[in-house]
Amino acid sequence: MPFTVKIRQFDDPVSVGEGQTILEAALAHGLPYPHGCRSGNCGSCKSELLSGKADLQPYSEFALTEEERQRGLILACRAVALSDCEVAYLGLEEIEVPAVRKVACRVTGIVEATHDIRIVRMEAASGGPFEFLAGQYAGLSFGDLPPRDFSMANRPDEPTLEFHIRLMPEGTVSPYVATALKLGEEVMVEGPYGTSFLREAHTGPVIAVAGGSGLAPIKSIVEMALKMGKRQGIYLYFGGREERDIYLEDHFKRLVARHPNLHFITVLSEPAGPTKRRSGLLADVVAQDFGDLDGCKAYLAGPPIMVETTTEALVDLELRPEDCHADAFYTEAEKAALESSS
Ligand code: FES
Repeated sequence: MPFTVKIRQFDDPVSVGEGQTILEAALAHGLPYPHGCRSGNCGSCKSELLSGKADLQPYSEFALTEEERQRGLILACRAVALSDCEVAYLGLEEIEVPAVRKVACRVTGIVEATHDIRIVRMEAASGGPFEFLAGQYAGLSFGDLPPRDFSMANRPDEPTLEFHIRLMPEGTVSPYVATALKLGEEVMVEGPYGTSFLREAHTGPVIAVAGGSGLAPIKSIVEMALKMGKRQGIYLYFGGREERDIYLEDHFKRLVARHPNLHFITVLSEPAGPTKRRSGLLADVVAQDFGDLDGCKAYLAGPPIMVETTTEALVDLELRPEDCHADAFYTEAEKAALESSS
């Protein structure tokens, strides 16, 4: 029997089919419910269950702690309604998030950033501009290929959209981008999505941590903060496995030269030989550099294991969990594994 779910931030209630999660129902009704991984691992869809009953499918402790669960919080992507319910998603009421839209774009640039990352630039051809907050992502559809999520790397006020697309040899979309994508090709961009965006009102130090192509949303966040004239310390940590994984270094060095409050630190986890860069895990390197992080904000993007371990390290240094904004990038294979384990 379908149930009705009232979402406090929206006027019309949604009908939830049997076995459907609250997030699935909201998105099927075209509502911009905040979400990320859709598999109970990122916490972006964390919500308060105000009334009614819902069953929670398996999720990670990183996304929802036991204490939060006891307080009546749920993950909308894991919550299956057992009765009519009322829910409210958390923490975004004071921020106006642009509505989800589809914008047809044309490819205007393809750059080989590293051995496995292409920077793809595009501009709106119709239906633009594409509005988003620094740090959000979009679903990109190349030709008939299935849509895939990528973060915008440019500032929201810039007309050219920039995406960093890492080649996944077993995938379908990234090999196409790496070998066949042409300038002028049309790409459908749908979004924006994601809750790990720049909190513009914050005035304390910012710790921005990026692994691999996770540099894209972090670049957008850091550049937007600088454009807004923010003066607090901004510590950008960019990690790769080895030397050939580091990109846009000159770009960030130029920003550092213009903005004394920006610090750019590169970290190699598996350098092939002696290196002048920091080496080790991003979580350990960041933890070495700071004492008490109360009052700071952190933004993290990259492989799920990096995001998880670095978040834990930051919280151990007294960073408040609500000041930690993270998007983990799951490959399609990782998403499938998570789905089958739940
Ligand atoms: S979208 Fe629900 S935990 Fe990630």
